[in-house]
Amino acid sequence: MTQESTQEVNAAASGQFKIGGDLQVNRLGFGAMRITGKGIWGEPDDREEALRVLKRLPELGVDFIDTADSYGPYVSEDLIAQALAPYSNTVVATKGALTRHGPDIWMPVGRPEYLRQCVLMSLRRLKLDQIPLWQLHRIDAKVPQDEQFGVMKQMQQEGLIRHLGLSEVSVDEIKAAQKVFEVTTVQNLYNLVTRQSEDVLDYCESQNIGFIPWFPLAAGNLARPGSLLDDLSHKYESTASGIALAWVLKRSPVMLPIPGTSKVKHLEENVAAASIQLEDADFAALSEQGKQEEARAKAEQAAKR
Ligand SMILES: NC(=O)c1ccc[n+]([C@@H]2O[C@H](COP(=O)([O-])OP(=O)(O)OC[C@H]3O[C@@H](n4cnc5c(N)ncnc54)[C@H](OP(=O)(O)O)[C@@H]3O)[C@@H](O)[C@H]2O)c1
Repeated sequence: MTQESTQEVNAAASGQFKIGGDLQVNRLGFGAMRITGKGIWGEPDDREEALRVLKRLPELGVDFIDTADSYGPYVSEDLIAQALAPYSNTVVATKGALTRHGPDIWMPVGRPEYLRQCVLMSLRRLKLDQIPLWQLHRIDAKVPQDEQFGVMKQMQQEGLIRHLGLSEVSVDEIKAAQKVFEVTTVQNLYNLVTRQSEDVLDYCESQNIGFIPWFPLAAGNLARPGSLLDDLSHKYESTASGIALAWVLKRSPVMLPIPGTSKVKHLEENVAAASIQLEDADFAALSEQGKQEEARAKAEQAAKR
């Protein structure tokens, strides 16, 4: 990549959002789940490349990183600290409450004493005095919600955490948490062809809560050659995943996508999508096709059952 193009590719082009009204980040962030081993378990295949990805983030204007203690577990947080601490202009958001029992196995534990351990250990691993944004990775159905929300509020009051967020929640769960603390971000599965969280997104927009869509690059069958998405990737000189990301960014001003990758080349491609301004007609056509593709995929799954 030339010096000139490095200057052009910058996450700042995605616009800015203030988490909790005071913690400003560029809207296009980075998800640090993919810098771990297969099944999000253990060390990445290429540790040096993972470190290069992380070190490239500030150069590309990416100042918002999402991670979790359970990614690895610990590997992602450790690598972030090794590559970037002390963080000059980078907001590192982490999550806790999921225990790991092997590759691709995630078990929620929301007992207050465990959540406190999650936060204290993330602080140590990330080499931070305060976590800028800590998110409850999952509400544990076995533990009363208010016990989980209550300890989060307590840890915020103690100064261990600046802002609090939730993950994979409904509007009712956000409202329940809002009775205990200020919910500043919500992280739910969302992309062009996975839209079951539209109501949560709309609620977040109405409350100025940052909405962090995970798996934001997915486009399913829409990415096939000759499709509208394929045409648009030529029109905007991008890729199918770049256009899917541009669509997500245009969907709402509270949208904070965190595409993840283990490769510098893919990181640069993803950040380039921050500069794509989709025309309204293209956005609308993609929105419609995304909904149709979601319905088609659901019907296909139902038929297989
Ligand atoms: N709250 C939750 O429950 C939850 C759940 C899952 C994820 N997350 C967060 O959300 C972030 C993003 O989610 P995700 O990783 O599932 O989805 P994603 O970022 O949409 O997709 C990541 C996948 O796409 C590939 N990729 C990335 N850039 C690419 C490019 N330019 N060209 C081709 N392939 C590319 C990556 O492989 P390569 O490494 O080969 O590039 C990886 O397999 C995670 O990092 C994590 O922080 C949160």
